[in-house]
Amino acid sequence: MHRNEAMDGYQLMIPGPIQLSSDVIEEMVRPMVPHYGTDWTVYYKDTLNLLRRVFRTEGDVFLIPGSGSAALDAAIGSCLGPSDRALILSNGWFGQRLAEIASSHSDNIVVAELSVTEPIDPADLETALDDAGDVRFVAVVHSESSSGLLNPVHELAKVCRRRGVLLLVDAISSVGGVELAMDEWGIDLCVGASQKCLEGPPGLGVVAVGKRAWPVIDSAASSGWYLNLQVWKRFADDWSDWHPYPITMAVPAVRALRRGAERIIAEGLDERCRRHRSMATRVREQLSAAGFKPVFPEEIASPTVVALRGREGCSADEVVDRLRTEHRILIARGMGIFAGQVFRIGNMGPQATDAQMDALLDAITGLAGNAGEGGNKDER
Ligand SMILES: Cc1ncc(COP(=O)(O)O)c(C=O)c1O
Repeated sequence: MHRNEAMDGYQLMIPGPIQLSSDVIEEMVRPMVPHYGTDWTVYYKDTLNLLRRVFRTEGDVFLIPGSGSAALDAAIGSCLGPSDRALILSNGWFGQRLAEIASSHSDNIVVAELSVTEPIDPADLETALDDAGDVRFVAVVHSESSSGLLNPVHELAKVCRRRGVLLLVDAISSVGGVELAMDEWGIDLCVGASQKCLEGPPGLGVVAVGKRAWPVIDSAASSGWYLNLQVWKRFADDWSDWHPYPITMAVPAVRALRRGAERIIAEGLDERCRRHRSMATRVREQLSAAGFKPVFPEEIASPTVVALRGREGCSADEVVDRLRTEHRILIARGMGIFAGQVFRIGNMGPQATDAQMDALLDAITGLAGNAGEGGNKDER
């Protein structure tokens, strides 16, 4: 059991880490190479260029060994001194995460606690900015993975641009699967993670930094070293041709993420977003017909994290448990106020395909059939 085989053989359909395609896995088992030197550095920088295309930015991109939260910590913390003010818009569990991270860097963080069942209204951002006064940045989650709600980041960015304030977006569960155009929309800092729609394994946080963000980062009395973008930028500039980061880079994770990014570019971003959206629609429609109601209507629902409620005779947690024990398929439970109320499906990358989704939908609708005897199929 030392290889943990008991965990093998499950079909992952959780909202990250996602199941990996075989070409991505192959990248992780290649012989090790040093994380420095000319050849590696050229390869590494090409990888950053691919990611620039995925984020749709011409800004700087940093790969930080760690999870998505490490990248959030870096992006947020690098803009903040101990008493700097920032405005965090929170309408879910991961919005709270942003607030928690920001509050660990400054004692002057303003958190706008907004309804967890509605996308953030740009008018609420205007009001929150009026109330907060001068802030170094606004931060928001794009796809709130805890509930499956999609925030209108493009609209929020317009407000930030008009008001001349930086916008930091947690795009961890959206980038690579949902429409997002960092530069065109006016996003200043954008954070992703390797293990979601970017199609890599867990282990790398991605921070994209636009031009407007640098004066704020450079002037911040930020603390720390590992997660400080001032440090990462210095190495990217000073050791550009040899070792463009301050640490030992996670070579297998970079190679795998690069393969993931190549897959994204090969598919085409527009086509890819269409695929995720149409699959999410199919999941919602088919499961809705089986009695599992989507938490949010199509217009405000995340295409990558599909959240549905249990039905009479088959609770949300029972769906999760029975899929695992009877079908060896893993999906996720609800989080925060949605705990026990909803189940969540990761409609991401290779999981957002007919081949993978058919098995899941068959399994869930099969459960509905069983539960139907004690439940009430007719209502739906
Ligand atoms: C929207 C969002 N933000 C932040 C995180 C935290 O990322 P990580 O678990 O990689 O630290 C997640 C992870 O699911 C997420 O979905």
